Amino acid sequence: METIVIPVHKSNEIEHVVATAIAQRRSSRAYSSQPIEPEKINSLFEAARWAPSSMNEQPWAYLYATQDQPELWNKLMATLNESNRVWAKHAPLLILSLVRKNYLRNGAINGTARYDVGAANALLSMQAAHLELNVHQMGGFDRQGAIDSLNIPNTYEPMVIMAVGYLGDVENLSENLKHREMAPRERYTQDFFVMNKTF
Ligand SMILES: Cc1cc2nc3c(=O)[nH]c(=O)nc-3n(C[C@H](O)[C@H](O)[C@H](O)COP(=O)(O)O)c2cc1C
Repeated sequence: METIVIPVHKSNEIEHVVATAIAQRRSSRAYSSQPIEPEKINSLFEAARWAPSSMNEQPWAYLYATQDQPELWNKLMATLNESNRVWAKHAPLLILSLVRKNYLRNGAINGTARYDVGAANALLSMQAAHLELNVHQMGGFDRQGAIDSLNIPNTYEPMVIMAVGYLGDVENLSENLKHREMAPRERYTQDFFVMNKTF
């Protein structure tokens, strides 16, 4: 079989103009203890609410807890992998994103539901960046543990947990995390993933 070698280029520059929220968004691990204003929490979910979805099904759900709701917050925190818990425990807000797997209208499996939830989470993250809040999504958590401790019905499936808060001081992180935090952020350049011709 012929091996196709694709030249891969990465860069850490934003190479074309993008909206400020896109340029400013990043997944930091350093959180300030400053609580998030309730109105801003509502704005995050409002942004998700207005996401596009197949058949306008809106197959997303969010379960959140702030640090001043220790019982619920600890249930979410307990599901995180240790490598995430070490830094996410300083975030004042945790959000579990869930997908509703079947159409409400007829119960059929919704094949685009996860795609739609990703879009809603992207808008939530953009709104957060606009409000100068940091969102760090985490796939590293115990899904079955979340289902059990939060009584999640089997019509829903956990997707990611997001740690949300104002940016904190990177100096308070462990050396290892500080190093990751300071590392340049890289992306493939457009020539790797954008085509104006056939494959
Ligand atoms: C679905 C998903 C799961 C992720 N899971 C984790 C995780 O478990 N732990 C973590 O530290 N970061 C996690 N991340 C964050 C990514 O590592 C991060 O988005 C990526 O390195 C790009 O960095 P940036 O968001 O700062 O641009 C996850 C992101 C997404 C979208």
